[in-house]
Amino acid sequence: MDKFNIAIDGPAGAGKSTIARLVAGALGFVYVDTGAMYRAVTWKVQQEGLRPDQESEIVAIANRMRIELIPRAEGQQVIVDDIDVTKAIRTTAITDDVSQIASIGAIRQLLVAMQKQMAISKGVVMDGRDIGTHVMPDAEIKIFLTASVSERAERRFKEMQSSGSCTMTLQELEHDIARRDQMDQEREISPLKRAHDAVLMDSTSMSIEEVVDEILGLCKDKVGGG
Ligand code: DC
Repeated sequence: MDKFNIAIDGPAGAGKSTIARLVAGALGFVYVDTGAMYRAVTWKVQQEGLRPDQESEIVAIANRMRIELIPRAEGQQVIVDDIDVTKAIRTTAITDDVSQIASIGAIRQLLVAMQKQMAISKGVVMDGRDIGTHVMPDAEIKIFLTASVSERAERRFKEMQSSGSCTMTLQELEHDIARRDQMDQEREISPLKRAHDAVLMDSTSMSIEEVVDEILGLCKDKVGGG
């Protein structure tokens, strides 16, 4: 089977990362979580004691820092300047600031260039917000994965409860997800938007396995692989 690329976009909590990782595993492809790159920049910004509105300082830092994404069976490991930040980039402090940092044009330019580079050799399943529209406009398969706000909040809530890191109520989570959706959809540069040729999948009442199977089915139909 020839290698090809899969773009998975959608709002926070739609299940993109779990699904992208499973699809990549089933095909023997590399999974790239681009949200983790925006989170890595946010982590560095906070380490340096900067506020998310200090754009020129943030851009200077982002140009100096080294982000490595290492594919592992259990998920993607994220290294910033030789420090493993895989867990540290998932805290609420990072989540609170990341949308603002992801709206800085020069940051997007820098990270999108890195992401395009990763896609050149094909065999990549990449998830994010602008993958089908900007990063891999030529991806053979494009998915726009969504789910209702209340379903996404509930999933996040369960996830946080099971990892023992539940610092928010369900209602607060719902509010937070709606706020992030709005910021991602309304930002000027590369807003979260379904590519015209992306397949829309609503996972509100689908299991992870069902979504994965449907994507693998699309791969078979379109590319003859899977
Ligand atoms: O998927 P996530 O929650 O880890 O994403 C973190 C933030 O980065 C979120 O505010 C959306 C933004 N993002 C983006 O603007 N473009 C991407 N390709 C991926 C994430």
